[in-house]
Amino acid sequence: MVSTKPLIGEVYYPPETIVRQANLPDYDAEHQAMLADLAGEWGRIAREEFEWFAPWKKTLDDSNAPFYQWFVGGAVNIVHNALDRHLRTWRRNKVALLWEGENYDQRSFTYHQLAREVCRFASVLRAMGVNKGDRVTIYMGRIPEIVVAMLACAKIGAVHSVVYGGFSVEALHGRIEDSASKVAITSDGAWLRGNIVPLKEIMDEALQRSPTVQTVIVVKRTGQDVHMEPGRDLWYHDLMKLPIAETCIPTEEVDAEDPLFLLYTSGTTGRPKAILHTHGGYMVGVATTLKWVFDLKEDDTWWCAADPGWVTGHSYIVYGPLLLGATSVLYEGAPNHPFPDRWWDIVERHGVTVLYTAPTAIRGLMRFGDAWPNRHDLSSLRLLGSVGEPINPEAWKWYHRVIGKERCPIMDTWWQTETAHFMITPLPGTPLKPGSATLPLPGVQVDVLNEDGDPVGPNEEGYLVITAPWPGMLRTIYGDPDRYVQQYWSRFPGVYMTGDSAKRDEDGYIWVIGRVDDVIKVSGYRLGTAEVESALVSHPSVAEAAVIGMPDEVRGSVIQAYCILAQGVEPTQRLIEILRDHVAHEVGPIAKPATIEFVDKLPKTRSGKIMRRVLKARALGLDEGDLSTLEE
Ligand code: WT7
Repeated sequence: MVSTKPLIGEVYYPPETIVRQANLPDYDAEHQAMLADLAGEWGRIAREEFEWFAPWKKTLDDSNAPFYQWFVGGAVNIVHNALDRHLRTWRRNKVALLWEGENYDQRSFTYHQLAREVCRFASVLRAMGVNKGDRVTIYMGRIPEIVVAMLACAKIGAVHSVVYGGFSVEALHGRIEDSASKVAITSDGAWLRGNIVPLKEIMDEALQRSPTVQTVIVVKRTGQDVHMEPGRDLWYHDLMKLPIAETCIPTEEVDAEDPLFLLYTSGTTGRPKAILHTHGGYMVGVATTLKWVFDLKEDDTWWCAADPGWVTGHSYIVYGPLLLGATSVLYEGAPNHPFPDRWWDIVERHGVTVLYTAPTAIRGLMRFGDAWPNRHDLSSLRLLGSVGEPINPEAWKWYHRVIGKERCPIMDTWWQTETAHFMITPLPGTPLKPGSATLPLPGVQVDVLNEDGDPVGPNEEGYLVITAPWPGMLRTIYGDPDRYVQQYWSRFPGVYMTGDSAKRDEDGYIWVIGRVDDVIKVSGYRLGTAEVESALVSHPSVAEAAVIGMPDEVRGSVIQAYCILAQGVEPTQRLIEILRDHVAHEVGPIAKPATIEFVDKLPKTRSGKIMRRVLKARALGLDEGDLSTLEE
């Protein structure tokens, strides 16, 4: 795969010191081993790196594809591997989680302390009637208790469904209802740029629309008065004082294929779908890829600056680092509050060695100039990472030069909520091309196909697909297996459709271009056009709505909305503001349209589907393309 010829284009070679110490020194050897025997090689890794209560009978069962199963019949629990097993070693007293709040408050947990907190909260959840397989919705800010809550669910075999704290009422309600959670965990509020995000208030409003929840556990973070519904709402700190929280229950033995979590994400049309991941394959895939790509060593301080509410946080703030016994940093707040050096200050004070973030954050911080990072000692950094959308070469180079001082290779990792872990990414020793996620990891088989399903030539654009199973792959869409098959496996039978378009250059390097479906990436956050449109039409003054993503220098894309107003409604500037706020209230501030235009009609196909492609071409002043299906 990696050619020995000189590479084409602008190439950055990694420093020799980085290459020499890499955890996976030989890409080609591992890649060949995987190609020769995919299941055998993953089986070897799973056996050597993790503890199982009982061995599996079959490493990969593809007899019911695309419902693949991994480590079939194995007994395991991800929490046993992420916490319990470390307690028998010196890591017992190593810092597992290092937290910094927006007001500079700090809390850290050793593996022992974190395991104990998780154990106590697991007992509380049990006492609240949460059993194996039950779904629990978690809606919190970035505080240690979100990590505790996730791990406590997993420990007892319950299934967590974390809803990002930036989502709002309708988004939360839809996710609670779809997962049929009986218990929800939230906090009174979250700090963001000196303001309080009223999480409990949003939860209360969502619960008026969702009757399934019987118990709400509330963590005190911001301390303002909140409504506590008698018989339903309980304080976390009160529950943790009960005698029941002192009984340390053992980690539940679950099947490798038992569900670990649901995470909702947007797709082509329709409601957000619950991506389902399981204990065994997820564990093996996430930890192994983190070890390979970010080269974690015992003395590393790893900082994934994402939110635990997205897959990046699930895999690489919570599970991955803990499985490897690393120190994981979690922070609350925003990169530019109180000043635009918040991150560089954190890197310096905590001696962060590996920093993983998103292009939108890099572009945002780049705008404040070099002086902010230059005021700090960033010499602890060894590797940098990027995820969420293609990184433009300008931002890549700034990150490389100003933050990494040209010493730190940048791991531009391509993956998805569905894949659970890195798929296309450099390793520390890979020659880099700014803007390319480079090569698939060993064992990952990708292709770029044209409309007919044939591979395209070098530098031609096509559909990015994955052609072989991988351990962390989603197992299904919870409650909707047909949609799973239809959405991911039917465009090209037997092949996983990523939803992205890409090119492959002469060196085999992959250049991801963007989504080909109705997904809009706003600041790296994945939003579906349908979710925003249905929020708009839920307002009485809107009859019909369509939204598209428009390019934005910092956020990647912003939302532009077109609305047909209900009969007799006046198109005023004030109404635009009302509708923008309405979307923020229903879906969340990230979904707030940047612009709203009132129109008389929308371009539709004869079968009534809105042609967003046409709207976008018009907005960008481009050729409208094939209009043969447009209704008159
Ligand atoms: C979509 C998945 C993966 C965790 C965060 C996002 C885009 C992601 C890259 C990258 C180009 C990227 C793709 C993908 N994407 N990483 N390194 N280069 N594009 O997870 O919310 O499920 O979004 O993000 O479009 O399909 P997600």
